[in-house]
Amino acid sequence: MQTIEDKYRQFEERNKAAEIGGGEERIKKIHESGRLTARERIEIFFDPGTFVEIDKLVTHSCVNFNMNENRIPGDGVVCGYGKVDGRLVYVYAQDFTVFGGSLSRTNANKILKISKLALKMGAPLIGLNDSGGARIQEGVRSLAGYGDIFNLNVKSSGVIPQISAIMGPCAGGAVYSPALTDFIFMVNRSSYMFVTGPDVIKTVTHEEVTKEELGGAMTHNSKSGVAHFIGDDDEHTLMMIRELLSFLPSNNLEDPPVVPTTDDPERTDESLQDFIPADPNKPYDMKVLIKSVVDNNHFFEVMPNYAQNILIGFARFNGQAVGIVANQPNYLAGVVDINSSAKAARFVRFCDAFNIPLVTFVDVPGFLPGTVQEYGGIIKHGAKLLYAYAEATVPKITIITRKAYGGAYDVMASKHLGADVNYAYPTAEIAVMGPEGAVNIIFRGDKDEKAKQERVEDYRKNFANPYRVAELGYIDEVIYPKDTRLKLIQALDMTKNKSESNPPKKHGNIPL
Ligand code: HXC
Repeated sequence: MQTIEDKYRQFEERNKAAEIGGGEERIKKIHESGRLTARERIEIFFDPGTFVEIDKLVTHSCVNFNMNENRIPGDGVVCGYGKVDGRLVYVYAQDFTVFGGSLSRTNANKILKISKLALKMGAPLIGLNDSGGARIQEGVRSLAGYGDIFNLNVKSSGVIPQISAIMGPCAGGAVYSPALTDFIFMVNRSSYMFVTGPDVIKTVTHEEVTKEELGGAMTHNSKSGVAHFIGDDDEHTLMMIRELLSFLPSNNLEDPPVVPTTDDPERTDESLQDFIPADPNKPYDMKVLIKSVVDNNHFFEVMPNYAQNILIGFARFNGQAVGIVANQPNYLAGVVDINSSAKAARFVRFCDAFNIPLVTFVDVPGFLPGTVQEYGGIIKHGAKLLYAYAEATVPKITIITRKAYGGAYDVMASKHLGADVNYAYPTAEIAVMGPEGAVNIIFRGDKDEKAKQERVEDYRKNFANPYRVAELGYIDEVIYPKDTRLKLIQALDMTKNKSESNPPKKHGNIPL
């Protein structure tokens, strides 16, 4: 008969087997590749001592390819929950040492179980992905597992924040669940995402491409727009996820946490008075303006390397989290184009889903013209941003710093799309188009260059200012740049209890 000690020993052995995963050799290989193991990542991510693991002893039930002789407790994914800054968060972390972190039916069931708990309890779900995709030995059972995860990702979308980190080579199905989540983090030089790797590409299309070029962190952060953040290494990436969480509510029924600040809400900034260049064609860095007005100059930028003509990110005003969208005159003069529309639209919808007020800084010369944009569908992509702003019912506060021309004036959270407070600086130019374009059309055929210059100046004086729009009430207040922080805090305070809803419907039909 087994003694109590025998039983306890058996318990400890099973635990140990789960913790060692695919064994010391494979752990060593992970470390050599600059990565951490799933358990090390979890340890770093959560507040110390708060992680609770579930399903540690679950094993797969596959018998193909002698898999019944190769079972490792936990089966390649570590699941559980813990605290981040004292708040409940759920996690699954794929363990690359066990069958390359590939997804078995059992492994999928563990992810589904933790995801359902996160949804029921109303807490964020974090996926730390490090996986070779579908577990090849399991065939369609693995595909079924993926399908079930995708389905639950979609059901949870807009209910709880879902955040993915890509922390190793992720192929096949391993990239599609992340694609359905709200934010994707990648680790520089040790993470990859592709539907299919370089070898298959070479066979099918004869194209030669490295892993890094095809699906490295910089590729997806700057070229494809699939990923939102890039971390220097595993630890840095995990700390960035913690920071992102600090701006978010736990679910769509809560407001984001308010973080007490020592930054004076009535702080003014004289340096902003001559920050906007008098010459309308001179660029300036909108990030400097944003940083100067938010709490502690801290702007947590999202997608900083993609479509840099628009800035998106989180910040706080008097402790209250906001989502910021801003044209960036420093890059392509801040035009609206396909990529910037899609980038900003998705962000606006995220903020709206999670009760995060939107603050929009506008300096936009218009839409980027040309065949590349038209053939690429700027009409439908630009419409995404219109749609997202119009649909958003969170407080919407807009500040026009300089240009707001044409359709782009309407798009950038104008009064007409339901903004609650619209400010403009005295330097604002709000009109159907820029002075040169307008004069060229109105006085087409008139070749007198001197008269043209005078007309341009006249137009600029009479129309390219905030006053026509203020007379119509589409701008609520013209303000001094130095008062920006104070005015935005006032507006956020005024709109705090905003209650607005869209007509009941199954869902709208955003132009995709
Ligand atoms: C089972 C797998 C596996 C998989 C890796 N392994 N991928 N086992 N199923 N999908 C195992 C390897 O056999 C190996 O086992 C260990 O994990 C580590 O793999 P390595 O190849 O040695 O690692 P590395 O050189 O770093 O390469 C990582 C990799 C590569 C790039 C991910 O393993 C790879 O290309 N794997 C296959 C990717 C793939 O095609 N997946 C299926 C996609 S189809 P040992 O015992 O040697 O340690 C798919 C369909 C879903 O996902 C579609 C839904 C929409």
